[in-house]
Amino acid sequence: MAVFPEPPHFPPDDFASPGLPVDRANTTGREPLGDPQEIPDIADVDCPDELREKIEASMARYPDRRSASIPALWAIQRYYGWCTPDGIRQAAAVMQFTPAYLESVASFYDLFFLEPAGRSQIRVCTNISCWMRGGDELLDAFCRATGVDRGDAGHGGGVSEDGQFFVSGFECLGACDLAPMASVDERYFGPLTGDDVTAIVEAVRKGEDPPSGRALSERPLAGGQDPTDDPKVASLKGPNR
Ligand code: FES
Repeated sequence: MAVFPEPPHFPPDDFASPGLPVDRANTTGREPLGDPQEIPDIADVDCPDELREKIEASMARYPDRRSASIPALWAIQRYYGWCTPDGIRQAAAVMQFTPAYLESVASFYDLFFLEPAGRSQIRVCTNISCWMRGGDELLDAFCRATGVDRGDAGHGGGVSEDGQFFVSGFECLGACDLAPMASVDERYFGPLTGDDVTAIVEAVRKGEDPPSGRALSERPLAGGQDPTDDPKVASLKGPNR
């Protein structure tokens, strides 16, 4: 019969994590990850309180804090506009990872930026449903309105000369029923026309919210805003409808 070694005991007795919201009921993933010499000391990085709180809140949600890597990277990117080396060092110190570990996670996903990106980020879906309904033309329109090079936008994304906009074609953003659609600073809009593009870009340039008429968040639930007229929908009416 196979004999398996005893699992290591975590956290090790000598592991001190001042300030970390460690749930002692969960004992996996609490050890420093990587060469301790390469893990920044929290006292040596100037992690903004707001960022630290977000990262710690994410860590508290998971038994293994590696699972909080992606929320932590989002927090860095939302705070600094991209995953800056300083931001990654700060998160690494809070999470007791090496910066290289967090960088390796960030570099795997194309939604994370490891170099400066536009202050507003627009992703235009050019996958099949959106493409059939004019996704390529929508990407053309966003490029014209923002000044982003169309070739760059179609090959990983490009930034406008003024640094205001990042525009990229994207494979299915998972909102095919809005086709043709785009994500503007993480908010979904669709179906979009050329006029919508102009209005969205103008609003963002002025620092205003894009017009909400095409926003997914403004869409009524299936059945319309007053589902009681439809007996099939009304019969499903519950506390959340
Ligand atoms: S094909 Fe565009 S969101 Fe799915």
